[in-house]
Amino acid sequence: MASKTDILMIDPMPASFNEQLGSPFRLHQFSTLAALGPLAERIEGVTTGGGSGLPRAVMDVLPNLKVISVNGVGYDRIDIDECRRRNIRVATAQGVLTEDVADMAMGLMLDTVRGITASDRFVRAGKWGHEPVPNSWTLKGRKLGIAGFGAIGKAVAKRAAAFDMTIAYFSSREQTDTPEYPFYPELRVLAEWADVLVLCVSGGARSFHMIDKAMLEALGPKGFLINVARGSVVDEAALLDALQTNAIRGAGLDVFEREPEMDRAFWSLDNVVLQAHRASSTVETRTAMGRLVFDNLAAFFQGMPLLTPLL
Ligand code: 8YV
Repeated sequence: MASKTDILMIDPMPASFNEQLGSPFRLHQFSTLAALGPLAERIEGVTTGGGSGLPRAVMDVLPNLKVISVNGVGYDRIDIDECRRRNIRVATAQGVLTEDVADMAMGLMLDTVRGITASDRFVRAGKWGHEPVPNSWTLKGRKLGIAGFGAIGKAVAKRAAAFDMTIAYFSSREQTDTPEYPFYPELRVLAEWADVLVLCVSGGARSFHMIDKAMLEALGPKGFLINVARGSVVDEAALLDALQTNAIRGAGLDVFEREPEMDRAFWSLDNVVLQAHRASSTVETRTAMGRLVFDNLAAFFQGMPLLTPLL
């Protein structure tokens, strides 16, 4: 019987996925570099989440690493140049989580603009009947700026169009397949125009702190910020200040600069809706993602092309 291939899991994967992988592969959960010991030499494949990636220090002690299969679409925490240099192949779970992430963006937008969880707190605090019921704002006709117009950004636009929002986008280049939406080559100009700015850009150096104090000022006191991209895209200290001083009206955040040890200053603010980096966390999508992670590894070790290759 052929010996099993050793796979290192940076993030835990669901049990069903482990069972599938359990036959052709021997799985190891990463804990610390020190705990890896001599196993490091045997590792040929890695699975990881988009938010975790593969720390360079871990990659450097895996001399026989051949493939990284990402349980997500983000690869901003993987040293892609080094993968190229070492001829390490990379697959992502592209295509299967688009709709759920777009739904989360819509959910956060509806929640912040209509004040749904803020009003839930109002009811639970026993204020109904004693204090005026707070008003919120309407989505119809509200100007939605989408930063990052890949698959997820476009899926957000499709949903927002059904809410009769006015939509425009910023992207690294104008998209030819969506002539119905105006393209803003300058994010700053889009932020000035928009009532709601939804972030769908990739993480990494190019988008680091793309949303800073000046960009929040451009969004202005009637503006809402929604982030389903990466925490690193937003200067969180500037965002906290903007929320505390009402320099913007509200925010819906699925991702943070530090996860899960997020800045607790957010917890006491009533004008922000917080999620635990769970936009793709539905049973259906996580199952599809896990299967794809497995299928990519299986294809690679059978000498076949990756199903969803990045590299
Ligand atoms: C996942 C993500 O939560 O796709 C990504 O890049 O960050 C998310 O969809 C993550 O990959 C699961 O660990």
